[in-house]
Parts: sequence; structure tokens; C-alpha cells
Amino acid sequence: MPLSPAKSSGKKRILSGVQPSGIQHLGNYFGAMKGHVELQNSGMESFIFIADLHSLTTVRDPKKLGEMVINLALDYLAIGLDPNKTAFFRQSDIPEHTELTWILNCITPVSMLEQAHAYKDTLAKGSKDSTAGLFDYPVLMAVDILIYKPDFVPVGKDQKQHVEIARDIAGKFNRIYGDVFKLPDPMIHELLGFVVGTDGVNKMSKSYGNVINMFADEKTIKKQVMGIVTDSTPVDAPKNPDKDTVYKLYSFFANEDEKTSLAEKYRASGFGYGEAKKLLLEKILEHFKPFRVERERLKQNLGFVKDILKRGADKAREIASVTKAEVWEKVGLNI
Ligand code: TYM
Repeated sequence: MPLSPAKSSGKKRILSGVQPSGIQHLGNYFGAMKGHVELQNSGMESFIFIADLHSLTTVRDPKKLGEMVINLALDYLAIGLDPNKTAFFRQSDIPEHTELTWILNCITPVSMLEQAHAYKDTLAKGSKDSTAGLFDYPVLMAVDILIYKPDFVPVGKDQKQHVEIARDIAGKFNRIYGDVFKLPDPMIHELLGFVVGTDGVNKMSKSYGNVINMFADEKTIKKQVMGIVTDSTPVDAPKNPDKDTVYKLYSFFANEDEKTSLAEKYRASGFGYGEAKKLLLEKILEHFKPFRVERERLKQNLGFVKDILKRGADKAREIASVTKAEVWEKVGLNI
């Protein structure tokens, strides 16, 4: 029986996911989540999910995992993700993700997974906690993507390799069994695709402990901002804004005039990093203020939030189940 194509509207499609990590940070926000909200108005079909199965590679506390999922749902909805424009769902609500992972595992070379940054980094840190789940992480992620046949995957730079692995696996499957999967392109913002952490060296990431959280209380955010590492140029001396982490983070929030004005202050003498940090703190609090109010409102209505995820899952599953049926037929599981 010929299967109906998973895509019927003729529109281009985007798909992306975020791991619930407790409290999301500015790297997640600028590198991915903000863009996901903006792309809702691009005329493309949009699928955004909470990658809770991926979080199981690190989270072992069931209560905490549930809270993290709800928190991420609240974050996304508070910053403007509109469930009428985006199918917003939880990965684990779609069993086809795990089912297809086995099928793609069976054609994925171990050597490819050995090259994956996340796995290599864990080994490099000398972690004894490496698990099969962590090793296989890119295959689950490939399924997350391929099962929806998206055109674009909007992510930060750190996820580029994973999208490339998904393309490679899709290509291999199509060569062996015949065309099923579309080869998606990563969509990475040139400036926002890498948000530096407060250490001024690494990407902002919970695992480096160098984050500024989106919705933490003011006191915590202040501490994170004041902790940004700067060089030791004295207050009196001119400073180079382009080499400073406070300025870089400020730039994500500011308009052109504000950026120019702050850069001029840096280049003149008598302006210290402490003052720059205060300006950054103000910007962060101001930017997230309306979202914070909305988040509090949604928090009083968790039934509504869970309902949104259910409806999103229904929509996502319509597509995932068709792709699964295509795969089952191609590989011969369909007797
Ligand atoms: P995760 O949860 O680590 O990050 C979510 C998104 O935020 C981006 N990001 C950053 N961008 C710029 N600068 C940073 N410092 C920074 N930190 C994080 C990430 O690039 C990502 O876009 N494996 C994925 C989740 C995932 C996924 C998927 C994504 C699972 N399946 C399918 C896309 C498609 C992850 O752990 O991202």
C-alpha cells in the first residue's frame, strides 16, 4: 500500500529540540529558543520539542526530571512560543523516536559515534560515567530530526556536528533501503550561534558552570553577571570592547546605538568593567521582565501547559507514525 507523504502542506518545515537542564541560560536563549519563536512567523511549519529522553543520559532523579520538563515548557511559552503556530511537544510522548533509534543504530558505524564531540569531551574529562546512552545520543537526535522530515534545524553552533551526523545516517539509510529521509540543513545564526560563558573562554553551558540563567531570581543573575571574568585593565585605561565578555553579552540585547555608545565608553578612559556589568544586568532584567510575568501566570495553570504539550504530541505523532510505517516497510518489518 503506498503511504501518504508525511508532508502535505507544501510548506518548508523547521524542527528543533532543547534538553531540559533545570534552568535554561542565555546560550540556549540566543543560540536557539529566541530564534525558534521568531521562526514561527516565517511561513514555515514549526516543530519544537523538549528532549527529555536525552536528559536521561545525565539526570537520575525522577522528580527532578519532571520538574525540568515543566520548567522548560514554561520558559518556551513565556518567551512567546505559540502552540497555535508551533507543534510543541515532549519527545517521550512520541514512542516512534525510540523505536526508530534501534533501526538507525543498526546502520550507524561505531566509528562515526566515536567522533561525536559530546562523547569525546566526556572521555577527555576522564569521566567514568560514560554510558551506552551517551554514546548513542547522536542517533536518538538523528531520529528526532529525520522522523519529521524537516528542511531546517535551527540550533547553536555546538549542535552542527549532530545535524551533520543525522544527514550522514539519513543518506546511508536511503542508499541501503531507498528514499525515506530528507537530508536537513542546520540553520545557525552567524552571531548568536555561539554565546560565550561568564568564564570568557568556553561556550555558555551548565557543564562548564559559566551560565547566566534566563529566569533565575535577580540576586542569582546579579551574582552571575558580577562573576563575569574580565581582564585586569585598570579603570583609567581605555579598553577594547570587542575582546570583552561583558560587552559581547551586552551586544546580544542592545540595539546599534546602545552598542556604539557602550563601545565609546570602553575606548575612553575612566570606565570600569563594574559599570559595564551593571548596564548588562539592567538589560537582562529589563529584557526578561515581561516574560517573567507571563511565566508566573502560566505557572499557576500547569494543567493548561500540559494540555498544550499533549496537543503538540498529537500533531507530531501524526507525522512520526507515517515515517515509522515507511521505515518498517522499507526494512522488512512489515509482514
Ligand atoms: P541543548 O539542550 O544543549 O541546547 C539547546 C539549544 O541551545 C543551543 N545552545 C547554544 N547556542 C549558542 N551558544 C551557547 N552557549 C549555547 N548553548 C546551547 C544549542 O546549540 C541548541 O540548539 N542535543 C540537543 C537537543 C536535541 C536536539 C534534537 C536539537 C535533541 N534532539 C534534535 C535539535 C534537533 C542539545 O542537547 O541541545
